[in-house]
Amino acid sequence: MFLKALGRPMIVVSSVDAAYDLMKKKGAIFSDRPTAPVADMIGWGKALSLLLYGQPQFVKQRRLMQEHLGSSAIRSYDKIVVNRVQKFLHRLWLQPDEFCQDIHGLVASIIVEVAYGYSISGNPAGDKFITENERAARLTSLCGNIGFTTMDIFPSLRYVPACVPGMGLKRKMLEARDAVRTALTLPFEWAKSKKVSGINMPSIIHTLLDEYDDLREMSYEDEMDLKIFAGTVYNGGTDTTRTAITMFFLMMVLNRDVQKHAQNEIDSIVGLDRLPLPEDRPSLPYIDCILKEVLRIHPPAPLGLAHASTKTHEYRGWSIPARSMIIPNIWHMMKDANTFPDPEKFDPDRYVVRGDTAADDPISPVFGFGRRACPGKAFADSIMWTTMANVLAAYDILPSRDPVTGDDVYPVPEFESGLI
Ligand code: HEM
Repeated sequence: MFLKALGRPMIVVSSVDAAYDLMKKKGAIFSDRPTAPVADMIGWGKALSLLLYGQPQFVKQRRLMQEHLGSSAIRSYDKIVVNRVQKFLHRLWLQPDEFCQDIHGLVASIIVEVAYGYSISGNPAGDKFITENERAARLTSLCGNIGFTTMDIFPSLRYVPACVPGMGLKRKMLEARDAVRTALTLPFEWAKSKKVSGINMPSIIHTLLDEYDDLREMSYEDEMDLKIFAGTVYNGGTDTTRTAITMFFLMMVLNRDVQKHAQNEIDSIVGLDRLPLPEDRPSLPYIDCILKEVLRIHPPAPLGLAHASTKTHEYRGWSIPARSMIIPNIWHMMKDANTFPDPEKFDPDRYVVRGDTAADDPISPVFGFGRRACPGKAFADSIMWTTMANVLAAYDILPSRDPVTGDDVYPVPEFESGLI
């Protein structure tokens, strides 16, 4: 579908074939991002997700992501993931009504520990690093849909002072900019101060700081690069992964036969004396099928992140202009009845029947395309699997009960519009 919004060409791609033809096979042309001056002004300009394709910063950050979050690197985080998931099980026991908030705490606490070596001891929801990051994310989202705000479309508006009537967006941006600076700086300074005092907290930031002989002499630019890199890990990973886990709870309560099937598998393989560990994964294939189906039926980023083209390209008889915004309609791709018969049905068995290999995984579009595909996929997958297997091993996920009639009350899903 081709649209033109205020002169900007946009192509919404709704089939996997077209998405792969453009963003994978023609990755040299379709791996850029649309410019987003507002995000740049708020302080996200150097975040990997917004960097223009091919510039040295992009190449460096993708390499670092691969080194620290690739499938072999993430095995060293298994202990942190298992430990945090067990704490999460305990919180579910103490306060089951707060499960949405605790899912957030679970994911955020894993990511800050992996990124900064910072281990949250109490309730993650009250932790200062988490609350500052949430504040930054909230104030950023109040500025509008990044790439689509009036100031993104008319960048010259950025020179109009914030006090001029109608410049509410600029006032919000200034507030968001302060929050982003604080959120990126606090955990980084904490990790750096530990390092300066000779305390090593194994983490991505500590490994990256190891490259400097004298931390007091780090340049401002190098510090900014590390801050934004770790901040991108946190921000790219938290809302997406927590949304997927929340959807898992929803799907389990609505599909109790599936839940029972998974619990039987866990009980027969793992037994009743211990909880499932990452090493058990190859023996528990049904949990993998549930994981895929949760991601398919409600992709956490239903429209992905927009790509942009760098030059004009002919495709199926059409001419796609240079600087077109390419919006992958992942939600629609995951509802294609040819690949997923009866697509509205939550049916993990569809993967048992198909027996796909990793190379032709039909849900791979959920993590994006080609050279911009999500670098956190393996890490997210590991957090999701460990959480799902452990929750199923320890609990039944049931609907709440009407206090008067005693009837089961099933949740009615509602979704908000937005990136996630
Ligand atoms: C279920 C969890 C997740 C989902 C569904 C998801 C999905 C996505 C999608 C659709 C994109 C856009 C890809 C494209 O442009 O083609 C993306 C990009 C990205 N994701 Fe994820 N993601 C998840 C978890 C994570 C985690 C855990 C991290 C980091 C720890 C992460 C970091 C990133 C980054 C940095 C990018 C930007 C890559 C670039 O622009 O080159 N994501 N993700």
